[in-house]
Amino acid sequence: MKPSIIVHGGAWDIPVEQVDAHIKGCGHAAQTANDLLVRGASAVDAVESAVMVMEDDPIFDAGRGSVLNQSGQVEMDAIIMEGSTLRSGAVAALRHIKNPVKVARRLMEDTQFSMLAGDGALKFALSKGFDECSEEDLLVGRELEDYKVFLKTGVLQTREEFSGHPLDTVGACAIDKEGHLACATSTGGIRRKLAGRVGDSPIVGAGAYADDAIGAASSTGWGEKIMAVVLAKTAIDLLKQGNDVFGACEGSIDTLARRVDGLGGLIMVDRHGRVGYHHNTPKMAYAYSEGPSGENRAAIRR
Ligand code: GLY
Repeated sequence: MKPSIIVHGGAWDIPVEQVDAHIKGCGHAAQTANDLLVRGASAVDAVESAVMVMEDDPIFDAGRGSVLNQSGQVEMDAIIMEGSTLRSGAVAALRHIKNPVKVARRLMEDTQFSMLAGDGALKFALSKGFDECSEEDLLVGRELEDYKVFLKTGVLQTREEFSGHPLDTVGACAIDKEGHLACATSTGGIRRKLAGRVGDSPIVGAGAYADDAIGAASSTGWGEKIMAVVLAKTAIDLLKQGNDVFGACEGSIDTLARRVDGLGGLIMVDRHGRVGYHHNTPKMAYAYSEGPSGENRAAIRR
């Protein structure tokens, strides 16, 4: 079958001056993954590559560009899941590694475990040959400035800020030529979080879910709320119940808003390669290449 890829670069009120960088970053990630897929790469390879491109791009809150916690540390969460086996790998509150999604994949493929957190995740990464980087390698001026404001004011991120301030979690969903699905999500989490706080992104069913029989989904937004409605799995269940891919995205975001007053966005690919997306934040950055229709797009949705 013709492969498809869709990526997101966060759902929030992306300022005008950052719009181009978000579109470019998402477009680059989708293009990189699509080039792999058309050459016969697996959906797992495609979503890992797409997410690595965005982890390396400092415009996004993932990998380099991640936010700081209240202790001035970068702690990152990531997950990868394959739809053929329902296996997943995830890392939580991981420090000093440039590409958390790669560690998540190694965990999924090399071990019997699904999630590692904190020092254990770092120790695993180092044992697998990943390079340890410094805090400064991951930190960008934008986040240092925000941390200085936090130190002065002690103000935590409010509901209003979730729609107005960065939540550039990144994610990808793909289907390959063999019809296998995969998804991945990676984030620095939310600004000014408590040290050790883990959001939805590395939680299977909340931050991501993939099942070859149905589809794949990746979430972005306010993690505590997304976990409460298990957003990605809710969308997969809506797809299974007969909704089309856009209906499943809309229905799950509607549940997020109605049940817990949450804010966020979601991308999906169904088992036929159709892509969908929806959000209830002011904007969401995304890009896709949809095999069945031949359509390619990189944009900010308002
Ligand atoms: N959705 C990302 C987070 O809340 O950590």
